[in-house]
Formats: sequence, C-alpha cells, structure tokens
Amino acid sequence: MEKVIIVKHPLILHKLTRMRNRKTGSKDFRALLKELSSLMTFEITRDIPTRKIKVETPLGTMISGETVEHSNLFCIPIFRAGIGMVEGVLDVIPNARVGHIGMYRDPETLQAVKYYSKLPTGLSSDGRVLIIDPMLATGHTMVAALDLIKKAGAVNLRIMCLVAAPEGVAQVRKHHKDVLIYTAAVDERLDENGYILPGLGDAGDRIFGTR
Ligand code: URA
Repeated sequence: MEKVIIVKHPLILHKLTRMRNRKTGSKDFRALLKELSSLMTFEITRDIPTRKIKVETPLGTMISGETVEHSNLFCIPIFRAGIGMVEGVLDVIPNARVGHIGMYRDPETLQAVKYYSKLPTGLSSDGRVLIIDPMLATGHTMVAALDLIKKAGAVNLRIMCLVAAPEGVAQVRKHHKDVLIYTAAVDERLDENGYILPGLGDAGDRIFGTR
C-alpha cells in the first residue's frame, strides 16, 4: 500500500474547493470540514476487519457482517483546527475514543511546542489511531504528535488531513515511515511563514472566526 493516499472523489474535490474559496465564511467552512471528515473517514477505514454474523431480516435469515474493531478505534485531533474534524469522524464511528493534543508552532522556529495532551488508555498494538489535522504543513507538529502517541503505545497510526504540503509529507516520511497519510490534496509548497500555498489559509482562524 502507498504511504500517501490522495483520496480522490468528486464530492471531496467539490467540498474542498468550497473550503479553499476565500469568500466561504466560518459557518459554511465548519460544516464543509465536518462533512469532508466523514467522507475521509470512510476511506481511511476501508480495510478495518469485519466478521460474519447472522441477521434476521423481516423476511428471512442471512449471514451478513459487522466490524470488529469499533472500540479499538481512536481519533486524536491536534488543537486547534483538528477539533473541527472530530464530529465528522464520530458521525461515522460513534464508538471511537477521542484523545487530544495541543501543540502550537513557534512563529520564529516553526517548531512544535506541546501545551496539552490527554490520550485515551488502551492505545496499543491492536488499536487503530487516526491523528486528525486539516493541514499538514511543515510536518513538525505532526512528527511531535506521532512521537508522543507512539510513546503511549500506539503502533497502527494513520494521519487524516485535507491539504498537505510536499514538505510536510517528506517530514513525516522521514521520521515515521510506517505511518499512512490520507489527504484530499497535496498542494504546491509552503510560504516563508509555513502556510500552504495555495492551501486554504489558516484553518483554525477560518473555523473559529478568529480573524
Ligand atoms: N496551518 C494552517 O491552518 N494553514 C496552513 O496553510 C498551514 C498550517
């Protein structure tokens, strides 16, 4: 399996285009982010195991299937913008357990500084962990988050973002080769402030209307 999966689907493209549009306000931006997070979760969970079970329909009995891992699915948003994706993930995996990591980018060094972390217990080899952040920019924050989550015992990790920069993808690949990256797009490059070009601007500001 490729380590960077660009999820291509007309609905994903359409919604992402609307999010990129500078005229899209916070209310719509948040709704689109939530919808896109659900759609991306569909793809990222495509290979979770299922087992056969018998089900009685109103008209008969058949062998159908169910997923086996629901309570073993973890979703870890990175503050601030990752918070905007949680509901979309939980809409499709209601039993996922949610951890939180707070990191900010030092504006001078662009390095990640942790200020909060609350991870669920039970992160271990049989758990599947989705780390969510709409933007994979320099990759420094993501690498630091992955370090932290692996230290807590997780081994099966996937990143879910919407827009990635080639620099961020390379940074994650350099430090965490085993981690799969799911994204809706890989854009051109970073600017001198670590923003993705053309990107969609500051995701946190657009979600929360802070600018
Ligand atoms: N974070 C954002 O919100 N946007 C970017 O372009 C890069 C990092």
